[in-house]
Amino acid sequence: MGICLKGGTIVNADRSFRADIYCEDGVIKAVGENIDIPVGTEIIDVSGTYVMPGGLDPHTHMELPSMGTVSSDDFFTGTSAAAAGGTTMIIDYVVPDKKDPITPAYKTWRERAEKSAVDYSFHMNITSWSDKIAKEMEQITNEEGINTYKFFLSAKGALMLPDESLIPAFEHCRKIGAMPEVHAENGDVIEFMQKKLLAEGITAPIGHPLSRPSRVEGEATSRAIMLASMVDCPIYVVHISCKEAVQAVRCAQAAGLKVFGETCPSYLVIDDTVFDTDDFTFAAAHVFSPPLRPKDHQEVIWNALHSKTLSVVATDHCPFKNEQKKAGLNDFTKIPNGIGTVENRMDILWHYGVNAERFTPNEFVAMTSANAAQIFNIYPKKGCIAVGADADIVVWDPKKEKTISAKTHHMNVDFNVFEGTTVKGCAVYTISHGKVVYKDGQLQTEKGAGRYVKRPKYNHQ
Ligand code: URP
Ligand code: ZN
Ligand code: ZN
Repeated sequence: MGICLKGGTIVNADRSFRADIYCEDGVIKAVGENIDIPVGTEIIDVSGTYVMPGGLDPHTHMELPSMGTVSSDDFFTGTSAAAAGGTTMIIDYVVPDKKDPITPAYKTWRERAEKSAVDYSFHMNITSWSDKIAKEMEQITNEEGINTYKFFLSAKGALMLPDESLIPAFEHCRKIGAMPEVHAENGDVIEFMQKKLLAEGITAPIGHPLSRPSRVEGEATSRAIMLASMVDCPIYVVHISCKEAVQAVRCAQAAGLKVFGETCPSYLVIDDTVFDTDDFTFAAAHVFSPPLRPKDHQEVIWNALHSKTLSVVATDHCPFKNEQKKAGLNDFTKIPNGIGTVENRMDILWHYGVNAERFTPNEFVAMTSANAAQIFNIYPKKGCIAVGADADIVVWDPKKEKTISAKTHHMNVDFNVFEGTTVKGCAVYTISHGKVVYKDGQLQTEKGAGRYVKRPKYNHQ
């Protein structure tokens, strides 16, 4: 039997309106006032709330093997935490070992993700380049519905690809109807700086931001965009953290290039002063890449969202527990990189974005679901409240307050970078495929209820 959400205000990226919603068989069947609903329908009173498309977080790393350990949320705990924060779909990254074929890694990630509580899809990392990899990419795009490939300009000696590989790989993405994504930091400079700092005796977490300042990201962003432009290929720049990268994206867009930019809540509200401490646990808990920046970068990123230079707010969710971070106690380069924020992306963006009158609720929907759904080619199945769309919905109470804490969050990690922040506005119901998976503080997620979402290839013009 279906469910009906009654009395709320629908908020899509393009407009808001008063309507009830009827969902059945995982799909939105009716939207409007005075809609006919079958006898026996479960009716949920959502008056006084905003009813929005469930969040789509297009950048997560559940159970990711990295730096000798594995990120601490698996696909069930991580997607459940996502649901608690109003997110109903993630796009995670398949990361094959360098030089390995990519198809077995894809299968491994599909197996791992079977326990997901909400829908999921994958991007694929390309960490080596050959004709064989090119063939596999074409097959994976055609048959498995992966239309995005991520390339590292950092992580020298591990995931990084040199420019001579990036150019043909980007050209190949265009040819097969896919889009490259880049982790844009200059790997040569980072390696040089890491060695120099360690030689000077700087081993603490502060070495992390010192070894990769913002111009290192700015240069790599410009270079990646230039390389993509040489082969006339659209490009998506993940986790933008700084002015220089924003400027590179803005210039490219002004020149007519198809460049998309993503940022994360952490860069919007936390700055690099967290490293001004002797407390290893606290500082290491903030180690991720690109690193946190001096405060003056934040307003530039907010403005870039406002002007639509950046169009997506994702999390780069990749949590490690304090115990795991200790691997870098005597060497900052060994601290597992990543933080857990999948549960708080929407809270933080609403609180500091909508409540602070930086954005409208419609712009909030654009940044948290609709834009990503469009960019990654699954709109309007995702990212939209409309008849025929998946019944992935978040019911948002703009008056409800909550204080974020590792003691109460659902992520499997013992630290929260937003600890103690009281936000006003949060999810009260999260609905995945027409089923309530989170209700007023209580998770009702089910292992394996999430489904793999294939993303069709692009028809590049
Ligand atoms: O520190 C980070 N961002 N870890 C996750 C992997 C990546 O580069 O996105
Ligand atoms: Zn990255
Ligand atoms: Zn990432």
